[in-house]
Amino acid sequence: MPQELDQLESTALLELSAVETLPHLEEWRVRYLGKKSALTSALRGLASLPADQRKAVGARANSVKIRLQTDYEAKLHALSLSGIDESIGGASIDVTLPGRPVPLGRLHPITQVIQEICSVFARMGFQVIDGPEVERDYYNFEALNIPQDHPARDMFATLWLDSKEDRAARLLRTHTSPMQIRIMEEHKPPLRFVVPGRTYRYEATDATHDWMFHQVEGLAVDTDITLRDLKETLFEFCRSVFGRDTGVRFRCDYFPFVEPGGEVAIECFQCKGGGCRLCGSTGWLEILGTGMVHPDVLARCGIDPSVYSGFAFGMGVERITILRYGVDDIRHFYSGDFRFLRQF
Ligand code: DAH
Repeated sequence: MPQELDQLESTALLELSAVETLPHLEEWRVRYLGKKSALTSALRGLASLPADQRKAVGARANSVKIRLQTDYEAKLHALSLSGIDESIGGASIDVTLPGRPVPLGRLHPITQVIQEICSVFARMGFQVIDGPEVERDYYNFEALNIPQDHPARDMFATLWLDSKEDRAARLLRTHTSPMQIRIMEEHKPPLRFVVPGRTYRYEATDATHDWMFHQVEGLAVDTDITLRDLKETLFEFCRSVFGRDTGVRFRCDYFPFVEPGGEVAIECFQCKGGGCRLCGSTGWLEILGTGMVHPDVLARCGIDPSVYSGFAFGMGVERITILRYGVDDIRHFYSGDFRFLRQF
């Protein structure tokens, strides 16, 4: 038995010295140190040996195992290192090559325009907040002077979440104006807020309409706020975003929650007022609705209209972005097409 072990050891070591690759080394390990190897079965068979032989054979078998194990580990280490050497040494690195460009992410064009709009108003002292997209009839309509059956409800094709006959019905807000009410309920004047966010309309989509789009709402309430403050604030906004030389126009318009109500348009940047397809031959592009906050709206929120006055405005972000960059279809914004998005 001890001679067999000596034989086993020398064969194994001889073979090990010839091993040159990691897969071969693994084969070797299975053959000489694995569960089914001669050495393992010799160790297992010790129990059946006569007592006088057991000790000597056991000691020898163990020393063979330790020797094979040690040499195996040394070889494993050496081969692993040479593998690394080879992969480094084999491929030459050209350190003068430019690095691989890491593609940069970017903000969605609508996010960019929202940030720009908000930062213009932030410079003028407005705070930026957001509000819920799921609204109550009360905030979206009632409190804004649009009671049930008011014809102005037709201006807003609504996505209802509950039966619209229910006075507490929930809906997806059709504009950001309900935040005017929430702000005035919660804060006392002086108030200066802008509210960017998603709005929803129950509408068939086409190149200029989508069922979801963004608005930025604005509200300023204080003592002595006049139509002049409204005009100067919004004209300054237009000049900041569209350029100092762009003409700006204010005209009267109707919205139930403001009195007087108005609309602001900028000179068409394509035809410079001459008339073209973009502006429908009018020379002007309407960009926002506005007005002096209706006294009934103030009073409903617990703000005394004989002491305070305010102005409000609301603009469509997709519309402004479309006009500014000449985007031909609103549906591009949410198509997820990188060829479109990468342009911004
Ligand atoms: N909420 C209106 C809309 O979606 C826009 C608007 C008009 C907002 C006049 C205002 C405002 O704050 O004063 O059509």
